[in-house]
Amino acid sequence: MRKMYFVAIVALTALAFGANATERPGHAAIASAHKLATQAGFEILAEGGNAFDAAIAVASTLSVVEPQSSGIGGGGFFLLHRARDGKNLMLDARETAPAGVDAARYRKADGTPDRDASLYGPLAAGIPGEPAALVWLAEHYGKLPLAKSLAPAIRIAGEGFQPGAGFLEAIADHRAQIARYPGTRKLLMPNGEVPKAGWTFRNPDLAATLERIAAQGNDGFYKGKTADLILKSVKAEGGDWTAADLAGYKVVERAPLDFAYRGWKIVTAAPPSSGGVALEEMFNVLSGYDLDQLDRPQRLHTIIEAMRRAFRDHNEYLGDPDFVKMPLETLLSPAYAAGLRASILPDKATPSSMLPATVAHDPGMHTTHFSIIDADGNMVATTQTVNTHFGSCLVPPGTGVFLNNEMDDFALVPNAPNAYGLLGSKANAPAPGKRMLSSMTPTFVFSPERVGVIGSPGGSTIITQVFEGILAFMHGDTAAQITATPRYHHQYLPDVVYVEPGAFDATTTSALEAMGYKIAARGHWGFMNVVTWDLRTNKLDAASDPRRDTGLGEVK
Ligand code: GLY
Repeated sequence: MRKMYFVAIVALTALAFGANATERPGHAAIASAHKLATQAGFEILAEGGNAFDAAIAVASTLSVVEPQSSGIGGGGFFLLHRARDGKNLMLDARETAPAGVDAARYRKADGTPDRDASLYGPLAAGIPGEPAALVWLAEHYGKLPLAKSLAPAIRIAGEGFQPGAGFLEAIADHRAQIARYPGTRKLLMPNGEVPKAGWTFRNPDLAATLERIAAQGNDGFYKGKTADLILKSVKAEGGDWTAADLAGYKVVERAPLDFAYRGWKIVTAAPPSSGGVALEEMFNVLSGYDLDQLDRPQRLHTIIEAMRRAFRDHNEYLGDPDFVKMPLETLLSPAYAAGLRASILPDKATPSSMLPATVAHDPGMHTTHFSIIDADGNMVATTQTVNTHFGSCLVPPGTGVFLNNEMDDFALVPNAPNAYGLLGSKANAPAPGKRMLSSMTPTFVFSPERVGVIGSPGGSTIITQVFEGILAFMHGDTAAQITATPRYHHQYLPDVVYVEPGAFDATTTSALEAMGYKIAARGHWGFMNVVTWDLRTNKLDAASDPRRDTGLGEVK
C-alpha cells in the first residue's frame, strides 16, 4: 500500500512538472453538457482513439446537439495534457475580427452602442476557429483519422435527435432574430413557429459541411463550397467578409498559465482568455490567508474581495497577446498580490468605484464545457462557444452552421458593457485579425494525490465558477459535489454579490451585509462538467452539472 502510494506520488509529481508519467488510469472519464456528446466521446475511445480524438467527437457532436451554445461556427480553447511527456498546452481556436472590421458600425448615430449590430447578423460574427481546432487536434495529437472522429456528429446531424427544454426555450427567446434569416428560420422554426417538445431536429446541411471537413480538412470549411456559401450569405445580410478572412484563419498553440497554490499546480487558459489571469490573481491573493482558519463570512469576504480586484484588472489590461502588451508579470507577481491584500479591509467591503456603474446582466447558460481523461492519462478541458444563444442567429443557407456573435466580446464602444456587463479598455478594442477577450477558463488542477479537469459556461461567471469549483476540489469534494455546490459571483461592477438559491444562509448573508456587501439573489447559472482522478486509488470520477438534465458525466 505504502509502495503504491509512493509510486503514485512519483508519477504525479513527474506528470505535474512535465516529465514522463509512469501511471495510467486504465479507464476513461468524460463529462459534457449532452449525453449524446459524452457517448460520442466514448464511441471514439472504443474505436482506439485517445482523449484528443474523443475531444473532436465531443466538440463536433456538441455543435450538432447544442448549437445554442457552441459549434463549428464559433471557437474555443482546448487545454491539452499529453501523458506521454507531460506536455500541457492551450490550443487557441478563438475567433478573429475580419479585415474589414470597423468599430463605427457598432455605434448608433448618437455614439451609443448598437447592440443589435454586435449581437445579431453578420457584423456580430468573428471568423470561426472551431473547425481549424478539430483539424489541428486530429493532425497533431489524435490517433484516428479526422473522418472517424467526426463520424458520430455527422450521423447525429443526419438522423436527428429530440432537443430538450433548454434548446426549445432558446429558440423561443430568439424567435424574432431567428425569423430574420432564411437559413436559420428553415432549421429552427420550419413551420414558422417555435417547435414543441417531441420535435426531431435534423441538420443535414451541417452533416454535409462536417463531411467536407472530414474529407478536406481546413479546406472543407475555410475554402471551397462551405466558404462560398458563408461569404454569399454574409454579403447578402450586409457583412463584408472576404475569402482571405476565412482562408487566413489559424489556430495558435499557446503555453497555458501555470501557477502554484498551497502545494497544488493549476494549469489554465492564457490570454486571449482573461480567465486564467483572473484565476491566478485570485489565488495569489488567497495565498496570504489560511482560509481554513476563517469563519464562513470572513472566508467569503476574502474570496469576494479577491474576485473584485481580479475583475478590475480584467476590465483594464487584457486583450489578444498577439496585439497588445499586457503587464502580466506585474499582475501575477507576489508583490502585486501583497498590494492587493493590503487594500482589503479586514471587516469591510471595498466599494468598486474606479469605473462607472454598469447595467445588470443575465449571466445565462451560454457556451459549453467538457472534460476528458483517457485510459493513458491524456486530458482535455475544452470550453467552446458561439457566445450568446445561437450566436449571431445567422445560419448561411446550405451550411447548417450557426455563426457566432463573438464580436460583442470586443470593447466595441470603450467603457460600454457587453452582453455580460463587462467593460473593456483599449487593450480589447477590435482590429483586423485580432482575437476578442474571453472569459473561458478550461483548467487542470494537479497535486501528488489528485488531478481535476474543470470548466463551465456562463460568460463572466465562468471565472468565479471555476475558482469556486477548484476550491471545492481542493477541499476534497467529489465531482458531483463540485458541480452541484450553489454559486456566488462578484465582478467588480456592478458592485453586487450575486447568489444562487442556497449559496449563503441567513446568518452569513446578514454578516456580509453588515460589512457593506449588496447581496442579490439570482436564479441558477453555469453548466459545469468535471472529471477527476484520484492517484491514491487510481479511481476516476465524472459529473455533469445537475442544473440541467441534458448532461452526462460517466466513467468507463
Ligand atoms: N463569449 C464568452 C466568452 O468567451 O467569454
